[in-house]
Amino acid sequence: MCGIIGIASNKSVSVNIINALKKLEYRGYDSAGLATINKGRIDEKKCPGRVEKLEKILFQNPSEGNLGIGHVRWATHGVPNEANAHPHSTEIVSVVHNGIIENSSELKKILEKEGKTFKSQTDTEVITVLLTEKLQNAEPLEAVFKTLGLLKGSFALGIIFKNYKDFVIGARRGSPLAVGYSNDENYLGSDSYALKSMTNKISYLDDGDVCILSKDEVKFYNSNKDKINKEIFTLSENKSEVNKGNYKNFMIKEIFEQPITLKTCLKEYIDKIREEINFYNLPIEPKKIKKIVLIGCGTAYHSCLVTKYWLEEFTNLVIETDIASEFRYRNNRFDKNNLYIFVSQSGETADTFAALDLCKKENLKTCSVVNVVESSIARQSDCVLPIHAGPEIGVASTKAFLGQMLVLYLFSLKIGEVRGDLDNKKYKKLISNLKNLPQLIKETLKEEQKIQFIAKDIHNSKGSMFLGRGSSYPIAMEGALKLKELSYLHAEGYPAGEMKHGPLALIEDGLPVVVIAPKDKYFEKTLSNMQEVIARGGKVLLLTNSDGKVISENIRFQIDLPSSDLSLTPFIFTIPLQLLSYHVALFKKCDIDKPRNLAKSVTVE
Ligand code: M6R
Repeated sequence: MCGIIGIASNKSVSVNIINALKKLEYRGYDSAGLATINKGRIDEKKCPGRVEKLEKILFQNPSEGNLGIGHVRWATHGVPNEANAHPHSTEIVSVVHNGIIENSSELKKILEKEGKTFKSQTDTEVITVLLTEKLQNAEPLEAVFKTLGLLKGSFALGIIFKNYKDFVIGARRGSPLAVGYSNDENYLGSDSYALKSMTNKISYLDDGDVCILSKDEVKFYNSNKDKINKEIFTLSENKSEVNKGNYKNFMIKEIFEQPITLKTCLKEYIDKIREEINFYNLPIEPKKIKKIVLIGCGTAYHSCLVTKYWLEEFTNLVIETDIASEFRYRNNRFDKNNLYIFVSQSGETADTFAALDLCKKENLKTCSVVNVVESSIARQSDCVLPIHAGPEIGVASTKAFLGQMLVLYLFSLKIGEVRGDLDNKKYKKLISNLKNLPQLIKETLKEEQKIQFIAKDIHNSKGSMFLGRGSSYPIAMEGALKLKELSYLHAEGYPAGEMKHGPLALIEDGLPVVVIAPKDKYFEKTLSNMQEVIARGGKVLLLTNSDGKVISENIRFQIDLPSSDLSLTPFIFTIPLQLLSYHVALFKKCDIDKPRNLAKSVTVE
């Protein structure tokens, strides 16, 4: 997955391209590049590494030109080096690409047989070479359509042409692409976020669309080459200027923002006077739902797993969860009376989008839980439930996870009540309990110092395990994901009761084992599983809410978290796990906001 930008203007574009690329770095940051049309030729500059490095290159050797494209890369084909960085240019055309060309090897073989040569190992370069060939006897728009007809896979493209210094061409299939409008300047970008500091007037390309972007106008064509009009959206509040404030990095800022983001979300959904949850426009009447299927990737998938426990508690519905990349290829038993819920912070995750698209094609009822309301997933689903967490910049998802869980918790209560599965008195009580949630999170955050101490103790370990039962099991998985993602320390999240069926063999002297044991119906059982770990030398960090009571002398660390209604423990018990992964990564001097090999928004399969 990568980020692309294109600008057609009446003034020099390179500074704005660099600024937009910095915003797009959440999509990929292993190399960066740009190309402009300058004095009748293509001026291409690129490098492995961050946009900052590209900026320094431009400082030494500026790129002039009123028309340009830019790119940040997350490698799919070929290692991150200068040759594989985008743009990919020949003397007459330059291309930036987000997505994957699935038939690139076949096309490359054919082109090589014809005597064409390649400078990189990327799939994208076949597009450049094909376009160069087609441009010999076609105008740019026609050459683009001819080239697109040969490509299999997904793409969002930005293309400039040496002999046409007035326009950029954009094209979309599978990967998102937005257009922004301003005075004497128009833009192309992977998302509206990258364009927000320049404009709040946005249109979105649909699959198969192509656009021609000049400084004064934007023309759109559908896949049949017919000219089409696009709706122009005015983006809500300008959230583009996110900064770290006094925090060291975005992740820790976002962790500490959680009491506020949860409060905002509660305000959006709860009618305080009537003590009622407001959900509008669900695509299916709750009483008619046969089954709910929850789908997501990574952290978003973990929020689906927690929700399964809530929905099974508050309703008598059948609940299914799936990882989007599995769901999209399974032989699903689709049913028109099912509700399919897609969970995604970015709303752009390719696997989740493809799973949603599959459901749309089957005419199924869909709903999305997203942070970015202008995203592709939000726009494609029948109903959108925003999490109101504000921009999440750190690659590791923190406040979005709590936001997803909160919206899905409210959803579970509401569905339970409307269906008559959840007693109205209990429903009102659970709503009323929620007003304490932001404060409970605030108190839990006070444990940071203790966690810092634990992080110091374990940061050199060679592995770790996270155990829980019931809804604490997905929380254990989330804790493990956070730790491996941020600190590159091996971590496994496991149902505590499963240890004896194999993973117990991993326990050896000093192995850190985080045990998540709120005082719920699993408490005693989890403690027994914990003792089995201690007996084999495991170094246990117990997270519980036993009001300071020492559970066992053999526990290395015990942290007591605030007590709450038991259904709220997933929110509270996530906090120390976020802090633990953060501090371990800090001790290991890892790049907190941009962990190696990852990207914030995974827009390829
Ligand atoms: O934007 P999404 O929520 O769809 O992203 C899904 C995953 O890629 C994401 O949650 C990933 O697992 C995070 N980096 C985890 O911290």
